[in-house]
Amino acid sequence: MSNDKTNHQFPTSSLQAISTPFYYYDMDVLHETLDVIKQQIEGFPFKIHYALKANGNYRIISEIAQGGIGADLVSGGEIQAACNAGFKPQEMTYSGVGKTDWEIRLGLDKEIGCFNVESVPELEVINALAGEMEKTAHIALRINPNIDAHTHKYITTGTAENKFGIAIEDLETIVNQAIALPHIDLRGLHFHIGSQITSMQPYVMLCETVNRIHDRMESLGIHFPMLNMGGGLGIDYSDPDGHQIPDFKQYFDVFKRHLKLRPGQVVHFELGRSIVGQCGSLVCRTIFVKENHNKKFVILDAGMTDLIRPALYQAHHEIQNLTSRDTAIDTYDIVGPVCESSDVFALNCCLPVTRRGDLIAIRSAGAYGESMSSTYNMRSLPYSIFSDHLQV
Ligand code: LLP
Repeated sequence: MSNDKTNHQFPTSSLQAISTPFYYYDMDVLHETLDVIKQQIEGFPFKIHYALKANGNYRIISEIAQGGIGADLVSGGEIQAACNAGFKPQEMTYSGVGKTDWEIRLGLDKEIGCFNVESVPELEVINALAGEMEKTAHIALRINPNIDAHTHKYITTGTAENKFGIAIEDLETIVNQAIALPHIDLRGLHFHIGSQITSMQPYVMLCETVNRIHDRMESLGIHFPMLNMGGGLGIDYSDPDGHQIPDFKQYFDVFKRHLKLRPGQVVHFELGRSIVGQCGSLVCRTIFVKENHNKKFVILDAGMTDLIRPALYQAHHEIQNLTSRDTAIDTYDIVGPVCESSDVFALNCCLPVTRRGDLIAIRSAGAYGESMSSTYNMRSLPYSIFSDHLQV
C-alpha cells in the first residue's frame, strides 16, 4: 500500500488537529456521484429516491435534497428528517413491513408520494386511517420476486424466506382488493431484492420477472403509472480510490435495455449505498499497539459502536494509516476498544509500521456507518466533519 496515495486523499494535517473518532465526508465525491447519476438518467423517465437509512446525517441529506432527488424512507423518524432536510413529500416513498399507526398517519398528513405496502393487513390499516383523515393514500404493492441477489444473507430481501413483500402468487387477489378500497390509489408495483449487489445478473432477472407480471396485469386490464425497482447497487470496498463512483451506466443500462415500459410510465429507484458509500471514512487514532502470542494488534479509539459492518456482516473496509512515514510494512489485527470479541475491523491487515497516536482511516464508510452507530458501552456517538468546512 502506498502511503503517498493515502496522504493525497485526505487533508491529513487538518484532520490531525481534530479529536477522534469522527466521520469524514468528502463532499466533492458526493457531488460527483450525484452528477453522474443525473447524467445517466437524463432523457429517461427515471426518478431517483435516496434511501435515508444509508446515512441520515443532516448535512448529507440536505445536499442530496438540493440535487432534486426524492427520498426513500422506512420510519416516521425518517419521514420527519426528510421533511426537515427539504425533500418534497410528493417525492417520498415509504417502505417497511411494520409501519405503526402514527407513522402511517404522519405519511398521510404529509401527503407523501407513495406507501410501499408489504401485506394485506397493512393495506387495510392504511385504507382505514386514510378514511378517518379524509385522505387518499397513494400506494405501490411490494412484491417479493423470489430472486437471489447473491449478496450477504442479512441483506438479501427478495427471496421466498425473507419477511419482505407480498408473494407473487397472491398478487392478483391483492391488486383487486386494493383497487376496491375507497381510500387507496394503487399506482404501481415495488421490488427490492437486496443490497451490495455487484453483479448485474439479478437485476436482469428482476426486469424479466417484472415484465412477466406486467404483461399478466395488462391482460387483466390493470395499468400502473409507476414501477419501483428498489435499490441495492454495490460499491467497491476493496478499491475505494480506483472506483470512487459506482458504475451507474452499467446499472441503468440494464433497466433501459431489459425493462419493458408502457407510455407515460415512470421507473423509480431507491439508491442508498451507491450514493453515499464512498464519500465517507471513519477517522480514528491508534490508542495502543500490543503483541499477544506473536500476533500484533492495533487498538483504535473507534469500535463496532461507530462502524458495525465488519462485526455484523464480516464486511471488508480498506484501512489506511494516514500519518506513518515508515516504509516498512507489518501485519496487524485491527480492533476497537469495545468489550466484545467481535469488535474487529480487520484480521491480518498489512499497514506501514503503526504506532500509538497514528491517524487511521477506515474507508467506504459513508453508507450504513454513522447511521448504524450506537452508544453501547456508554460510548459517545461519532460526529462528522465535512471536507468543505475544513481550512486546508
Ligand atoms: N429500498 C429498500 C426497500 C431497502 O430495504 C433498502 C435497503 C434500500 C432501498 C437501499 O438499498 P441500498 O441501495 O443502500 O443497497 N446495513 C446493511 C444494508 C441494509 C440494507 C437495507 N435495505 C449494510 O451495511 O450492508
